Amino acid sequence: MVVSVTRDGDLAWIEIDNPPVNATSRAVRAGLMEALGKIEGARAAFLICAGRTFIAGGDMTEFDGPALEPHLPDVANALEASNIPIIALMHGTVLGGGFEIAMACAWRIAAPGTRFGLPEVKVGLIPGAGGSQRAPRLVGAEAAIEMAVDGRMIGAERMAQLGGVDHVLEGDLRAAGRAFAEELPERPAPVSARPARGLSDINFEERRLAVAAKARGQASPSRNLEAIGWANLPFPEGAAKERALHLEMRAGVESRALRSIFFAERSAARPAIIKGVEAHTIRRVAIVGGGLMGAGIAAACLAAGHEVTTVERDAEAATSARQTVSGLVDGALRRGKIDTADRDARTARHAAVDDMGAAAHADLAVEAVFEDLEVKQQVFARLANVVGPQTLLATNTSYLDPRVIFQGIAGPARCLGLHFFSPAHIMRLVEVVRLPDTSPDALAAAFRFTRGLGKQPVLSGICEGFIGNRILSAVRREAEYLLADGALPHEVDAAMRAEGMAMGPFEVQDMAGLQIAWATRTRQAATRPPEERYEAISDQLCEAGRLGRRAGRGWYRYANGASSGERDPNVEALILAHSAARGITRRPVAPGEISERLLAVMANEGARIVEEGIAQSDGDVDVVKVSGYGFPRWRGGPMFHATERGWATVRETMRRVAEASPNSWQMARRVRGEVA
Ligand code: NAI
Repeated sequence: MVVSVTRDGDLAWIEIDNPPVNATSRAVRAGLMEALGKIEGARAAFLICAGRTFIAGGDMTEFDGPALEPHLPDVANALEASNIPIIALMHGTVLGGGFEIAMACAWRIAAPGTRFGLPEVKVGLIPGAGGSQRAPRLVGAEAAIEMAVDGRMIGAERMAQLGGVDHVLEGDLRAAGRAFAEELPERPAPVSARPARGLSDINFEERRLAVAAKARGQASPSRNLEAIGWANLPFPEGAAKERALHLEMRAGVESRALRSIFFAERSAARPAIIKGVEAHTIRRVAIVGGGLMGAGIAAACLAAGHEVTTVERDAEAATSARQTVSGLVDGALRRGKIDTADRDARTARHAAVDDMGAAAHADLAVEAVFEDLEVKQQVFARLANVVGPQTLLATNTSYLDPRVIFQGIAGPARCLGLHFFSPAHIMRLVEVVRLPDTSPDALAAAFRFTRGLGKQPVLSGICEGFIGNRILSAVRREAEYLLADGALPHEVDAAMRAEGMAMGPFEVQDMAGLQIAWATRTRQAATRPPEERYEAISDQLCEAGRLGRRAGRGWYRYANGASSGERDPNVEALILAHSAARGITRRPVAPGEISERLLAVMANEGARIVEEGIAQSDGDVDVVKVSGYGFPRWRGGPMFHATERGWATVRETMRRVAEASPNSWQMARRVRGEVA
């Protein structure tokens, strides 16, 4: 029984026990309806949840089918209409349907630290059980917007100030409830019968524009705002509109995309190969190389409570690494993420030295030295001599072949790649790179470790650039072909932003710096198929010292340290001259064509990566692009997007892409239509 009712003198207890988060699945909804029949005669009833939290959302696996009875709005209305006043006793997180149910209760009591939210917006929805209508009546329109439009959680103490909870009570929640029920105050009017607060203070016209601008194409924030506006209608009317829109959105592409990426992230974090494998714990981490990446990785490890030793090549570099890492930890303090005690604890767990011997007791050693094969090989040869045979050895290389890096290292089962993204203390994605000999044990430990850092691990096989950078390289290639054919960098970037990307491909290059890709292209020159189209625009930029934002100029120019660039006539002249020199008659390229081509190239490369077994699934590719490359989450990722549009459409576009640049593209079997 997921919902049970027990009597306790003249009180009744309704308890939900539906692990892990007491989601409002059909059984819970039906159980609550039944429970209402079983509390008859009681003076009051408590609604409480077993386990670590109150109801923290709906059961998303039900969302793909038609809504099943009993419907949540009916349950909420029945709780609100019950003769027996119901007291919600809450702990953990009270989210979505959980908050909707709580608002239908007569009183709300929370344990300290309880957090409340209406996060439906994050899965492309609006609340569906009166949440958008009761919240403005209970906590006021501004707080309702904060929860439903911005998707932010509100803590118990502030919720009490807003009137959303009646009491925040320390100690045992049941005892607190009993004490409250000893002398019940007069039952307040049902929330649905109260007038909405603060709606007229809001300029909805202005707010709509601001919300839409921030959402960059995602519809659900605006729709939540719209629904909150309906709270000035009589409740039954507003609630009916809310429910209808909720159901419409549930079947719509945005919500399906967001649900798809949600499930893809969960499955990427626990790939089949580590199922059932017990992961040993990593406590002590050695990081060789304390530059940009090594320092970020160190900060992420410190935040997760690990002991970290940075090993640098000399004392001076070690000092500098120590300062960089402290700077990152201080940054967390400055942004209010941690307090001074936490800052001190983190700094105290970090050592930076120039002696590899200090890595001896590490459970994991991560190498983040220069992207130079020989340097990396030497590092691992020395590491293998000082660490124990069980110590995991990981390289953070972006483009080098880990099989070559680890050649000849004793214990190949414990060798793998941990490809972090810059800035490593912030970016969530980590590609966990599996070598032929990497053991499931080592992978299980690596996945557990990265999840523990609050990161999103994705399993990758070995190829140039692994999953993410390989797709990035393909997109950059096509983007450069587009430049040669007639587009300009700002046109390409604008077209991709219009698709919801955080940045366009040229802006990203400027931000990250052009030199790594330049080095890679130079390295690949000898093995590049001679028939493949090669446009050396980017190379010319690099040769001219236009290495990106930090250099003050790249695809754009940057006035004195500005983070956003402006069009540069020199670059545009260089592109025009390049086209002329190649005998290309430039033609205007429409934004729609730009984005269609780049998205098709992304999907094609992603499909090839899945077909080659480098990525385990389309979902894994989507997770990489969404969590590491600014692909809009609400579009589900490039593979979800392609599947939605139909692979036949991708095929048509890829045909045109290939026609414009013969011998330059390999089509995935799926794109060729050879497999479904
Ligand atoms: P970086 O140049 O900022 O840092 C490298 C550090 O390694 C320097 O502090 C250097 O003193 C140290 N080092 C060099 N040889 C050493 C040795 N033998 N022993 C100890 N320390 C040594 O480079 P960055 O950007 O941090 O890159 C490091 C690695 O991470 C490279 O393999 C790179 O491909 C990879 N990577 C870089 C990303 C980026 O965005 N920069 C993203 C993901 C991976």
